[in-house]
This record gives sequence, structure tokens and C-alpha cells, in this order.
Amino acid sequence: MRIRPTLRQLEILLALQENGSVSGAAEQLHLTQPTVSMQLKKLADQVGLPLFHQIGRRLQLTDAGERTLRSAREVIDSLERLQMDMADLQGLKQGTLRLGVVTTAKYFIPHLLGDFCERYPQIEFDFKVGNRQQVIDRLSEGRDDLYVFSHPPRDAPLTLHPFLDNPLVAIAAANHPWAARSHIPLAEFAAAPFLIREPGSGTRYAMERFLRQRGVKLNVRMTVESNEAIRHSVMSGLGVSILSRHTLAFGGDAGLAVLPVEGLPIPSQWTMAHHKAKPLSPVARAFLSWVEARPPAETALHSLPGR
Ligand code: PGA
Repeated sequence: MRIRPTLRQLEILLALQENGSVSGAAEQLHLTQPTVSMQLKKLADQVGLPLFHQIGRRLQLTDAGERTLRSAREVIDSLERLQMDMADLQGLKQGTLRLGVVTTAKYFIPHLLGDFCERYPQIEFDFKVGNRQQVIDRLSEGRDDLYVFSHPPRDAPLTLHPFLDNPLVAIAAANHPWAARSHIPLAEFAAAPFLIREPGSGTRYAMERFLRQRGVKLNVRMTVESNEAIRHSVMSGLGVSILSRHTLAFGGDAGLAVLPVEGLPIPSQWTMAHHKAKPLSPVARAFLSWVEARPPAETALHSLPGR
């Protein structure tokens, strides 16, 4: 049997996955729920297998659903690229740029976007933020044009463009006795109550690798899923932590001290990544060359404390 879905059906499947429910997909696409359900049924008939199961209130895609979704994404992406290519031929930079960005990069990427948008006002952005593991998941599903990591996955076929340093620094409350010290041995620092990011975080990944290499174990007091919550917990004296220095920019260092701990900052680099197999859209190409042509000094990235 030839599988020949309509574009609308493919869009509905994408919206279903994005929203997790028929009602959410219907709302996103301005359709009625019966229309969405009917089109999904027609799509399943074409494919010859069920596309999803209902688990509680959420829909879970089947294996057939996942594969159909992957093809749907390729078809829709390819048509969007065609549209941008045509705009490009007419000398216009327009279309949507999809960026998947790790949470820690959200402190500076918007500043890059702001300048870029001024230059190319016709470009729209779809900006998704998650921890490293969540962004890796987006990448393996091919959801975005470009990804920003400091530790891109090693096993994926990616083209990498490092563009900015991302030092990870040790922090304590500004009134902590260590704030006045000029040197803190790593073992002493590690013995203090520590606030750690959640598993899946790139910051945690880099930090654990660094400590493992030195045979040092942390005294973890609390796992906290957000850089902001860690900053506030450290500020209030709950413990010490290690965060990207970018989380402290634009006044984020208020009430905090960057500690001179042996071996720190842990060096890493912000890197733009994209799939080797997926052609870049003209808009993504424009953004990449724009970031690469722009030394950080020219952007708001320079306001980092503790340099
Ligand atoms: P995180 O990512 O927000 O997941 O910690 C930062 C990183 O990848 O360096």
C-alpha cells in the first residue's frame, strides 16, 4: 500500500506530539477536536497501524507513530526550507529559526538574538530551553535547526561551532568567611554542604567529570533543578555551589562571592551544534555566521563578573 498522507495530517501529528493531546493539537491549529481525531484516524488507516495509545489523559505515540512523526517532521522541515530558499533567492532573510538551548545558555542567547533580530526583523524565533539531556532528546528527534551546548553529545553526527568560553565557577554567599580567602584547596571546598543541579544537567556533568578526574567527592546537601534557585539558596547560606559564570551576569552575582578554589574555574565552551545529515536553512546559516563573525566583546556578553 502506498502511504500518501496530506500535509494537514502530518501537521496534526506534529501538533499532537507537541501538545500531548487532541484538544491541545486542535487549539494550536485552530481546528475542532472531531476534525483532528478524524484526520488522525485517516492517517493511521494509511499507515496501517495505530499511531498512539491513550495513557491516562496523555497520548503516547507507538513505534509506528514515532516513525511517522519523524517523516512528518522531515517533510514539513523540507517545505519550510524551500520557502526560505525562495525568500533567500529574492534577497530576503525570512522564516523561522528554531533554537534548542541548554538552560544555562538562556542568560546570553537572548542578547545575541536581540541584536540579530534588529538586523533581520523578518525572522521569527522558536526558542526552546531545557537541561542538557532534554536538549539532547530534542536533537535526536531533529526538532530544531541549531542547538547550543557546552557539552554536545559525543555519539551524534554533529557539526560543531565553538563560539564562547563558559567558565564554571565556585560560589558562596558574599558574607561567607571563604569570600575573604585568596586560596581554597579543592578538598576543603568539597567538604562544604553543596547544592547540585539535577541529573541531566550539563553543568553537573562537567563538574562531576572534573571532580572524578581528581578523585574528589562532594558533600551534597540538596539537588536543585534551576540555576536561579541555586543562586538564591547559596545567597541565603544553605551551601556552596559551582555554576556557569554566565548565570551571574547582569547583576546575578548580587549577594554572592566567586571563590578562588584550587583548579577552578572549570573551562568549557559554548558550542552551536547541528546535525550533519540535516541541511541548514538559510536563516539558520545566517544566524550561525552572524554569531561566528561577532567576537563576544561586541555583545552584551562582556558584563560577566569576577573576571
Ligand atoms: P545545563 O547546561 O543547563 O543543563 O546545566 C549547561 C551546559 O550544558 O553547560
